[in-house]
Amino acid sequence: MFDSANLLPELTGLISGLISILTAEVVRDLYHIAGHRWQPLQAWHTLHHKVYRPDLSVASVEMYRKAEWHNDVPEASVMVLVLAAIAFFAQAYSLGWWAGCIYSVGFLITSLGRANGYLLFTDITHKPGALDTLPANWLVNRTYHWRHHFDQGNAYYSGTFTLVDRILGTALSLKGKTIAVTGANGALGRSLLKELSKKGAKVIAISSSLPEADPEIETWTWQVGQESKWQVELAKVDILILNHGVNVLGDRSSAAILKSYEVNTFSTWRWLELFFSTITESKHKALKEVWINTSEAEVNPAFSPLYELSKRAIGDLVTLRQLDAPCVVRKLILGPFKSSLNPVGIMSANWVAWAIITLAQRDFRHIIVTINPFTYFFYPLKEITRSLYFRLFTKSDTKSENHAS
Ligand SMILES: NC(=O)c1ccc[n+]([C@@H]2O[C@H](COP(=O)([O-])OP(=O)(O)OC[C@H]3O[C@@H](n4cnc5c(N)ncnc54)[C@H](OP(=O)(O)O)[C@@H]3O)[C@@H](O)[C@H]2O)c1
Repeated sequence: MFDSANLLPELTGLISGLISILTAEVVRDLYHIAGHRWQPLQAWHTLHHKVYRPDLSVASVEMYRKAEWHNDVPEASVMVLVLAAIAFFAQAYSLGWWAGCIYSVGFLITSLGRANGYLLFTDITHKPGALDTLPANWLVNRTYHWRHHFDQGNAYYSGTFTLVDRILGTALSLKGKTIAVTGANGALGRSLLKELSKKGAKVIAISSSLPEADPEIETWTWQVGQESKWQVELAKVDILILNHGVNVLGDRSSAAILKSYEVNTFSTWRWLELFFSTITESKHKALKEVWINTSEAEVNPAFSPLYELSKRAIGDLVTLRQLDAPCVVRKLILGPFKSSLNPVGIMSANWVAWAIITLAQRDFRHIIVTINPFTYFFYPLKEITRSLYFRLFTKSDTKSENHAS
């Protein structure tokens, strides 16, 4: 018979065991951050960074062993000590608290083995070779960690779970990145350029109108249909933000249909494909991204049928292409903010831009910024079901998968 009284201690043990393992990983990440920011540990941690070449092969076995002694062995020792202390005080509640300590001892043994030259294979996030996957979202993989070594040392600290980077906003670094924004002369475009510059990005304004002259900002002037003219220039862009859009409101003429789909759907889709074609090297999988500003009109009425139709079409096309995308693709799902496209919008473009960047730095791949509570429920539901449907009834596009292999 089912005995819930017997099950409770086992469940408590399991949960405390899992929490203690998560705590061990948090301790590892905090030690790692100290290695970058706390002077007494910096020299030791620098040894670890010096070991690896850009393809993650080790520069020399001697350096590798030295770095293990000075970085990995102390790191694992701190994990063991902290987790043993926690388990000592918490064992009265459950012996499961020792799981994190045993887990940490495993790392101490392997790092001692490597330091002594017995184990000369490295851990999974430092395996040498070309990057063959995109940066993972919740668990650190090789591509995620590669960015810590060769993109930005003061970000991507997490070792196994991305939790600490997500909390600190270091799961995506914008510093030094070249970021191009379409619809740059619009309300959100201007706010995004400002916010990205504050984060240390080098911004490029892509505009179909003549933007206010700003000698500080590189500007590309384009018209719908002329996207391919920018293929060569696009190669130098790390992050492309497709933000241009139009709302024809109540107009239902054939010209309004054409304009809505050309601006909101097809030009965005052409930019997206053009950007994918610039992903030609292994490191691009780690560094390049494209963000697409669709709208919460993907799931809610915008009281503008052609706006909804064209935004839903690009929303679904992006969901389809995400299945084979050669780089990270983020969707921006925004609620009403004040601009010439929506003069009665409730939020401000500046606030929306700040929220987008804040969530992107926490590696949200679907960035929802709205005051409408229904969007937070209906958008994920729609996205999961559409994506599953597309996965079941379409085949993989191997050509784009091979872009950067
Ligand atoms: N405002 C809202 O409530 C809201 C809500 C959800 C999503 N959005 C989306 O957010 C994005 C930015 O909109 P916004 O609210 O900031 O409006 P906005 O101030 O009107 O900016 C939109 C910009 O898109 C570009 N654009 C318009 N027509 C174009 C055309 N025919 N060809 C090429 N570019 C064109 C223009 O920028 P350039 O002159 O620089 O080319 C324009 O300034 C749009 O995609 C919009 O759909 C807005």
